Amino acid sequence: MIITIYNFKGGVGKTSIALNFALTAEYGIITNDVYSPLESVLSEKQYIKVEPDEDFPDIPKKLNIIYDLGGHIDKRAIKIIKKSDYILIPTLSDFLSLKVTINAILEIEIYNNKIIIIGNGTHKSEIKHIKKVIRDCKFNYPLFELKKSKAFINIFREQKSIGKMTKEGGLKAYHYKVINEQFDKLIKYIEE
Ligand SMILES: Nc1ncnc2c1ncn2[C@@H]1O[C@H](COP(=O)(O)OP(=O)(O)OP(=O)(O)O)[C@@H](O)[C@H]1O
Ligand SMILES: [Mg+2]
Repeated sequence: MIITIYNFKGGVGKTSIALNFALTAEYGIITNDVYSPLESVLSEKQYIKVEPDEDFPDIPKKLNIIYDLGGHIDKRAIKIIKKSDYILIPTLSDFLSLKVTINAILEIEIYNNKIIIIGNGTHKSEIKHIKKVIRDCKFNYPLFELKKSKAFINIFREQKSIGKMTKEGGLKAYHYKVINEQFDKLIKYIEE
C-alpha cells in the first residue's frame, strides 16, 4: 500500500499523522522535508529522507509506505501522487488552512482522486465547519476527524503509537480514548 500525505500548507499535521500511522500499522516513511523530526524517532529500517535534488527511490508496491510530502507539486511529487493508493490531505479549520487546502485538492485531483480529507486538530464543532466548506466546494471525498490532542506530541516523545499508549492504561487510556478511536477508523477505512 502506498499512501501520500500532502498539503501545500505547513503545520497541518502531516508528519504527526504519518508517524502515528507508521507506528500503528507498520509503514515506512519517505519524506522530502529538509528538517524532519522523524529522524530522531524512526530507525533506518522505517525511514528514508530524500534530499531536495534527489529522486524518490523506486519502492516496490508490495511494501507499506507513507510519503510525507511538503512543498510544491513538482515532477517528483506528481510521480508519487500518481502511484499512491490514497492521498491524505490534512487541514486545520481556520480560513487560511482551508483556502490552501482547497487549492491543494484542486491540483492533486488532476493526478489522483483517491483523496481522503482529514479535519485535524479540531475543537468542539470545528469539524462541522470543515465539512460545510468542503461540501460547498462540491468535493465528495471522505472526511475524517482527528481532534486536538496532546497525544500527537507524545508519540514523538515516547516513540509509541497512540494505540500503544492507550493500552498502557491509567489516565492515558481515558485521555486518548477518542483520538485513538478516530485514528483507528481512518486506518480501517484505508486498509479495507
Ligand atoms: N491533532 C492534533 N492535536 C494537537 N496538536 C497537533 C495535532 N496534529 C498535529 N499537531 C501539532 O501541530 C504541529 C504541526 O504538526 P506537524 O509537524 O505534524 O505538521 P506538518 O504538516 O508536518 O508541518 P510541516 O509543514 O512543518 O512539515 C506539531 O506541533 C504537532 O504536535
Ligand atoms: Mg512535516
